[in-house]
This record gives sequence, C-alpha cells and structure tokens, in this order.
Amino acid sequence: MIIGIGTDLLDVRRIERTLARFGDRFVERIFTETERRRAARRFKPAASFAQCYAAKEACSKALGTGFREGVFWRDMRVENLPSGKPYLTLTGGARRRLESLTPSGMVAHVDLSLTDEAWLAQAVVVISATPAGPPLGRR
Ligand SMILES: CC(C)(COP(=O)(O)OP(=O)(O)OC[C@H]1O[C@@H](n2cnc3c(N)ncnc32)[C@H](O)[C@@H]1OP(=O)(O)O)[C@@H](O)C(=O)NCCC(=O)NCCS
Repeated sequence: MIIGIGTDLLDVRRIERTLARFGDRFVERIFTETERRRAARRFKPAASFAQCYAAKEACSKALGTGFREGVFWRDMRVENLPSGKPYLTLTGGARRRLESLTPSGMVAHVDLSLTDEAWLAQAVVVISATPAGPPLGRR
C-alpha cells in the first residue's frame, strides 16, 4: 500500500546562488558527507546538490510534515546503488515519522526517482508498506 507521495522541482541556479553566497555553511547544514562526495564527482556539482535538495523536499512532503516536527535535511540521505539507482535512507526525526506512518506488521519502503534537464532538477518520492516477512529482495 502507498502511504505517502511527494514531489519537488528546483531551479539549479538557485542552488548555485546559495552556494556562492553561503558556501560550506549551506552545504554542511543540508547535505551528508556521501552527498558532498557525490556532488564533487559530478561535472556540475550544483546540479547534483539540486537533485539531493529536491529529493529531501519531496521526501519531507511524502512524510506529510515538510521540515517540521523534528524532520531535518540531513535526516534524509541520498545514495546510489551500484546500478546507479538512487535511494533514500532516513534517520532521526524523519525515521521516527516514517515509523509512525507505517501500519503495524508492515515494513516501509522509500522509493526515489530523480531527473534533471537544463536548469531544472526534479525528485519524486513514494513511500509504501508491505507485510513484514521474508525479504522481497533489493528492488
Ligand atoms: C512543505 C515544504 C517542504 C514545501 O516546500 P516549498 O519549497 O516551500 O514549496 P513547494 O512549492 O515545493 O511546495 C509547496 C506545496 O507543498 C505542499 N505541502 C505543504 N505542506 C505540506 C506538508 N506538510 N506535507 C506535504 N506537502 C505539503 C502543498 O501542496 C504546497 O502547495 P500549496 O502551498 O500551493 O498548497 C516547506 O514549505 C516546509 O517544510 N516548510 C516548513 C518549515 C520551513 O519553512 N522551514 C524552512 C526550511 S529552509
């Protein structure tokens, strides 16, 4: 069953301006170490940061809170499987919110899809729950 969806669309130039203005202060407040390394490897680091930023906003919407009720930016970590598929790992307040949304006897899954084109970055997050039991395998 689906228990939450969220989407976000972001102009990469906004992130470029924020990076130019606030630099490390912004990066350290919003992004995890892995996300910073991911951006550093990319041809356009600002586009990578924009995708991660959009992923976190989309996830905060899928959780139904936005950045309230103890849900913080760095509680939502964007990583990639070896195949390149992105995924989100939740910690802290975001994890607690996810647990509160998950019906008992079920396991939550957080799926993330990212794209960018020209100056736009977009993220979609779907939170679903399946009955607890033997693992379904990595999707
Ligand atoms: C919810 C939030 C993430 C939206 O992000 P945003 O960049 O301001 O705005 P977006 O255009 O991307 O999205 C706005 C839409 O999100 C949706 N939304 C608002 N609150 C939401 C919630 N709690 N859960 C899910 N979706 C929500 C609404 O559809 C809203 O559109 P509407 O105002 O026209 O109804 C953000 O407003 C938020 O968390 N605010 C609370 C705390 C805050 O302001 N922190 C500062 C962070 S730097």
